Amino acid sequence: MDNFSSRPADCHRSVANMQIRLATVEDAKLICDFVTRITQQHIAPTLSEAGLKHLIAGMSTLNQLERIRNGYRFFIAYDRNEILGVAGVKLPSHLYYLFVHPERQRQGIGRELWSCARESICETLKERAITVNSSLNAIGAYKRLGFSIDGPVQESHGVRFQPMRMEFTTEPSDAREPAAGPDSNGQPSPPAQ
Ligand SMILES: CC(C)(COP(=O)(O)OP(=O)(O)OC[C@H]1O[C@@H](n2cnc3c(N)ncnc32)[C@H](O)[C@@H]1OP(=O)(O)O)[C@@H](O)C(=O)NCCC(=O)NCCS
Repeated sequence: MDNFSSRPADCHRSVANMQIRLATVEDAKLICDFVTRITQQHIAPTLSEAGLKHLIAGMSTLNQLERIRNGYRFFIAYDRNEILGVAGVKLPSHLYYLFVHPERQRQGIGRELWSCARESICETLKERAITVNSSLNAIGAYKRLGFSIDGPVQESHGVRFQPMRMEFTTEPSDAREPAAGPDSNGQPSPPAQ
């Protein structure tokens, strides 16, 4: 799909009317508000009250600001002034966030954001794998993006997540899994952190 040797430096790209840009510190509140709202809607049902509280506390504007200042890369998908999605990368090789507007899911936005995140990781990647801690509601989507289950579901501060991993030899896979049944653990899916 994407040509790794000619990737843009900051991943400006256009898909139909959608643009994707690299976030700056000015975007910290936008990222906080967006991921918090989607977490309350999509991830909350998979978490305890304490887990949800802990997860949302970690999504504060201040924390996003510190992350950006500390080198995390966030990509923002938008259409005119409306935010459509956010991906976050914790270098060297961890997909930290992947969130798409509830009314725009299953339209390819997550895959485009993942593509930007993956390209960013591959600029500096020394490891042979990319990791993600999937919320239990998102496992199926990550499988479709090429990730595999990497051990049992884990829990930290009440936040349950499924470690997942993408191994590769030369480039991360963009292969689509064959259409199949439900998630391997039979559950819907939680948070990438
Ligand atoms: C997970 C999420 C980011 C996916 O974004 P999206 O824009 O809907 O994804 P896309 O439309 O690009 O789909 C990518 C692939 O995943 C598949 N997919 C998307 N959601 C899926 C789901 N719930 N179950 C199974 N497969 C799914 C799509 O069919 C597509 O596969 P294909 O291209 O091989 O047909 C989005 O559902 C979301 O924001 N969820 C809530 C927040 C969340 O839980 N984020 C993860 C935190 S760890």
